[in-house]
Amino acid sequence: MTAPKKLHVKTYGCQMNVYDSERMAEAMAAQGYVATDTPDDADLILLNTCHIREKAAEKVYSELGRLKPLKARNPDLRIGVAGCVAQAEGAEIAARQPAVDLIVGPQSYHRLPDLVARANRGERAIDTDMPDEDKFEHLPQLRTPAARPTAFLTVQEGCDKFCAFCVVPYTRGAEASRPVRRLLDEARALADRGVREVTLLGQNVNAYHGEGPDGRTWSLADLVWAMADIDGLERIRFTTSHPNDMTDDLIAAHGECPELMPYLHLPVQSGSDRVLKAMNRKHTAARYVDIVDRLRAARPDLALSGDFIVGFPGETDADFEDTLRLVERVGYAQAYSFKYSARPGTPAAERAGVPAAVAAERLHRLQSLLTAQQRAAQEAMVGGIVDVLLEKPGRLPGQMVGKSQHLHAVHVADAAGWGGRIVRARVTAAAPNSLAAELV
Ligand code: SAH
Ligand code: SF4
Ligand code: F3S
Repeated sequence: MTAPKKLHVKTYGCQMNVYDSERMAEAMAAQGYVATDTPDDADLILLNTCHIREKAAEKVYSELGRLKPLKARNPDLRIGVAGCVAQAEGAEIAARQPAVDLIVGPQSYHRLPDLVARANRGERAIDTDMPDEDKFEHLPQLRTPAARPTAFLTVQEGCDKFCAFCVVPYTRGAEASRPVRRLLDEARALADRGVREVTLLGQNVNAYHGEGPDGRTWSLADLVWAMADIDGLERIRFTTSHPNDMTDDLIAAHGECPELMPYLHLPVQSGSDRVLKAMNRKHTAARYVDIVDRLRAARPDLALSGDFIVGFPGETDADFEDTLRLVERVGYAQAYSFKYSARPGTPAAERAGVPAAVAAERLHRLQSLLTAQQRAAQEAMVGGIVDVLLEKPGRLPGQMVGKSQHLHAVHVADAAGWGGRIVRARVTAAAPNSLAAELV
């Protein structure tokens, strides 16, 4: 008997890529490939890539340069590029890096086994179509037991919003929602495998409008309520949401559905109406703040997270001050902020950007404010009680690490044996990115 072939997947970018990487690994497992943590002994290496900012995309070429020498040691090694860079720059990758044997776009993963077979025959296999069929309908479903009590579940893909800076509508294609029945089946299968918390994923997850088992179109709120009924699923989260799709039923669910966790990632990008307009966000700063107020009226302890871009073309000092003001007004438990990166093919890429030094200075100021807010939020937890879903052992003996309802990382002392369970703990200390706690 020959040894099974080994697959190494390296994932960049968002959680949807994490989910896709798992699906690709499952598809290749059905072809006899076993997973390996290192590229060194792999027969197939897949880079699941991200195109969102220039730096993310450039990483792919440097990683390919590092991997190429492995082919001298293992002539049967095949190297593939998947994900959003494959979709956006498939031809360029093929031209720049001869070591690449296959290129597959995010909507074609169900064709991966076939592409690998072609690559193994010595062909160069490229598929960056955006086929009409739903890749998930054609990918094998969940054979492997869950390694952790938390899981991602992609419910919606693609984006029709076309923010002026963003590549996602081009790399992931048009918005599409998976049917409710499939998602509930998958969630039940996850719960049967020991998953206690599921995060529903979509580039615009709250635009979800899937075909319901009753023939009606279901909203994300409808889906959340149905997931909450599944035995064993104790926590539900979703990401990433767009302010314009924050509907009343979803806001209400935050107040009424105990399984829906009090944490929401709601990017705003800028606090200036002028910039929001230029970004084609189709909402104002005031509208965003109003949505936040309504969410907090429904769920007073809701922890908010956001995304910000500084240095968008045309952003003035006054615009940037508006962003700082919005951050002060909203108060974030956590946030991501980025310097604007011009992406080929997007409308904003045609416009003149702000000087790099100005953007760097703004990023620094915004991050100082966000970090101060995050630190204050962490410190306010000390002495309080949190419910922690314990995921894995920590660094200290007996310690276990997990997440609170509000998505704090919590290190719980003397909790060995409680993995996969939700425990009550008292917070004893706060660090910038984690809390220490003891069981109560
Ligand atoms: N679908 C999500 C986010 C997708 S990308 C949403 O609509 O909010 C994740 C984040 O990357 C964005 O929220 C934005 O803050 C950032 N981003 C996207 N394109 C960017 C660009 N060209 N330059 C800098 N940051 C960008
Ligand atoms: Fe990109 Fe805007 Fe769509 Fe988010 S809503 S994925 S930022 S185009
Ligand atoms: Fe990146 Fe594609 Fe996700 S560009 S952020 S991997 S959708």
